[in-house]
Amino acid sequence: MSRSISPTQREVFFEPDEIIVSKTDPKGRLIYVNDIFMRISGYSERELLGQQHSIIRHPDMPRAVFKVLWDTLLSGQEIFAYVKNIAKSGDHYWVLAHVTPSFDADGTVIGCHSNRRVPSRKAIKAVEPIYADLLATEAKHRNAKEGLAASFRQFVETVKSKNMSYAEFILSL
Ligand SMILES: Cc1cc2nc3c(=O)[nH]c(=O)nc-3n(C[C@H](O)[C@H](O)[C@H](O)COP(=O)(O)O)c2cc1C
Repeated sequence: MSRSISPTQREVFFEPDEIIVSKTDPKGRLIYVNDIFMRISGYSERELLGQQHSIIRHPDMPRAVFKVLWDTLLSGQEIFAYVKNIAKSGDHYWVLAHVTPSFDADGTVIGCHSNRRVPSRKAIKAVEPIYADLLATEAKHRNAKEGLAASFRQFVETVKSKNMSYAEFILSL
């Protein structure tokens, strides 16, 4: 579960030559964070390791995006995603995440690795309204499961309407 930190609506930034890194176990619990992750999120290593990655989930992020992320990783594929994260202070920061699964010798997913770079402002401007629409759909449903199913369908349709795969869509932004 994500902690309820109140968003400040203040955006913070990291440098274009920096990479925010984290690794998780297959259930999304943090097992590694780099210094840049700690600096921008405002948490210490002690506060992060063993916690769910949703510790930095921003309430503006639609659940449908994380469903696509997890479905893709658990099917053994890598994924790119634009993510708005919340720091301990309530400030937020946008990232372009490249998330990859790791396997054991039998091909079972034993963990995941995310490298995040500074996204272009053009891409953020493009995803913000799409995410806001998905979030509105999720909020419309009292039942969270139904809300997620509806926003997931909406996300799939949005991408389909552009005649692109999800990966092509993300890289086109
Ligand atoms: C390697 C990896 C990196 C992730 N990075 C983020 C992240 O930066 N921000 C985030 O909100 N969720 C991230 N997630 C997704 C979370 O595990 C979680 O699904 C998401 O925060 C939604 O929280 P919820 O499942 O409690 O609704 C990541 C997952 C993995 C496996």
